[in-house]
Amino acid sequence: MFYSDDLIEEVRSRNDIVDVIGSYVKLQRRGSSYFGLCPFHNEKSPSFSVSPAKQMFYCFGCGAGGNVFTFLMEYENFTFPEALKSLADRAGVDLPEVEYSEEAKKQRDLKSAVLEVNKMAATFFYYQLRAPQGAKAMEYLKNRALSDETMRRFGLGYAGPYSDALYRYLKQKGISDALLKESGLMSVNERQGMYDKFWNRVMFPIMDVNGKVIGFGGRVMGDAKPKYLNSPETIIFDKSRNLYGLHIARTSRKKYLLVCEGYMDVISMHQAGFTNAVASLGTALTSQHASLLKRYTDEVILTYDSDEAGVKAALRAIPLLKAAGIATKVLHMDPYKDPDEFIKARGTEAFEERIAQAENSFLFELSVLERSYDMRDPESKTRFHQAAAAKIAGFELELERENYIEAVAAKYHVSFEGLRRMVMNCLMQGVPARTEQPQVRRQAPKEKDDGIRKSQRLILTWLSEYPQLFATISRYIRPEDFSDELYRKVAGMLYGQMEQGELNPAKITSCFTEPEEQRVVAQLFNTELRVESDAEREKAMKETIYKVVEHGIARKTAELDPTDIAGLQKLVDAKRRLQEIRKLHISL
Ligand code: UTP
Ligand code: MN
Repeated sequence: MFYSDDLIEEVRSRNDIVDVIGSYVKLQRRGSSYFGLCPFHNEKSPSFSVSPAKQMFYCFGCGAGGNVFTFLMEYENFTFPEALKSLADRAGVDLPEVEYSEEAKKQRDLKSAVLEVNKMAATFFYYQLRAPQGAKAMEYLKNRALSDETMRRFGLGYAGPYSDALYRYLKQKGISDALLKESGLMSVNERQGMYDKFWNRVMFPIMDVNGKVIGFGGRVMGDAKPKYLNSPETIIFDKSRNLYGLHIARTSRKKYLLVCEGYMDVISMHQAGFTNAVASLGTALTSQHASLLKRYTDEVILTYDSDEAGVKAALRAIPLLKAAGIATKVLHMDPYKDPDEFIKARGTEAFEERIAQAENSFLFELSVLERSYDMRDPESKTRFHQAAAAKIAGFELELERENYIEAVAAKYHVSFEGLRRMVMNCLMQGVPARTEQPQVRRQAPKEKDDGIRKSQRLILTWLSEYPQLFATISRYIRPEDFSDELYRKVAGMLYGQMEQGELNPAKITSCFTEPEEQRVVAQLFNTELRVESDAEREKAMKETIYKVVEHGIARKTAELDPTDIAGLQKLVDAKRRLQEIRKLHISL
């Protein structure tokens, strides 16, 4: 759906950022801004600022920032259209109805109808569990140490002993057979016609990230097979794109997510306070799961079963997560089978300890590899060391290799130098480098900042805070003097606004739909320089302008085609103006 810039700006300007963020974060006025504890990282003293003048937020600690849309996208994990919708509703702005093709409309209507049926079924099961006929199921769940609160939070239910109870209930609600077929809740055979897929099972509704019921898992209350029965894939249920528990885990505000195998594992972990646990739905983790996870975190701890199948599943998941840019660790569950059993036997603190001890995924892979060598036999042991060296040689960065050489040498009691020589040999023989890219991590803006960029950001921040400087600054610095594409774009828009006499940094932010870009834009308008006095600030401004212009000239000189006479003349002029800056007088 396309929304016009004017509409987006109207919605933005009708939602004061201090009001909106104030309903999530406790803010206190300090000077011209508000400050609070950053909701995007853990901190004890407030470095999260909200500026009413700029209508933007920025965290000096972790670099999160943007306008009111960015905030909702990051805090609620909304997409841009979702953030727009929510703020439009809040301010009472009508958004135009989306126009769908006939076919798309049918699909959408079918989807919402199937969602509706799933919701009815969830409600039905929920009440069955809590009614007298649900006593046996309730006892089963209580025996598995689940509290009422946990059962409520996960919407657990019960499908009774008759194979037509849900069918009759939904028919009486007026649902057609055609729709029931689409819902995945019914089985059909020639003799019996349509009947309930789930009966005599405790029911686990499966929710999408927004908490909508999209399917079910049902467990027998004894040892019968199959232990779990799951909804088939339907128009709303795609197993490779959904994770059980994610609708809760995504708001847990933990740095990492715990990924496990089963429904009961997720529930046990949540009940023990690990509300950042999710599970794939009776299938192996897919690359779609990995990208879904990446929307919410950069780090995953695998808490798979300790059996052979769990180890295999972990070995398959690690490269998929790595390819999505997620750093992975593996938690050791032994001597217990799965998180549910571990927590029941050893409790929360012991599990917390295991999380802290979770093993780096590379070292985990290596320890699995080790099992196929006889470590008591010197020859076999050497071959293992060689295999390890070859694996280490696969890391692209030297520093990374060194770190792994150090870790592996320590773990397997071999000499650092010896292992290093082995790795060097592998590199010489041309072991193909790993295809995965080295970790791209979100980084705080303080890291990897090369002076000149900071100067350029300072210029934009000052322009947004002291618009009276525009006449002076724009005489020397033009948008094309900034070194990054994104900086140039933002500078161009800001200059455009200034020329119109309309300063509106938050509106500029709206022009970028990716939160990563919005974060950079926020940084551009929130760069700080510690100064003691106005005189000092004025001096710093003069020096910064000089530096940016000088850098711009150096860059253009390097790029200049020597036959470009006009270009050369421009550079000569620019150098002359550079000298003028020395004599410039800036007064705030
Ligand atoms: P497990 O067999 O490890 O079960 O299957 P569990 O989670 O420990 O279950 P409890 O503790 O005995 O109740 C892990 C996951 O694999 C899927 C389910 O999603 C289950 O949670 N599964 C397992 C099935 O879909 N069908 C089955 O028959 C078994
Ligand atoms: Mn289990």
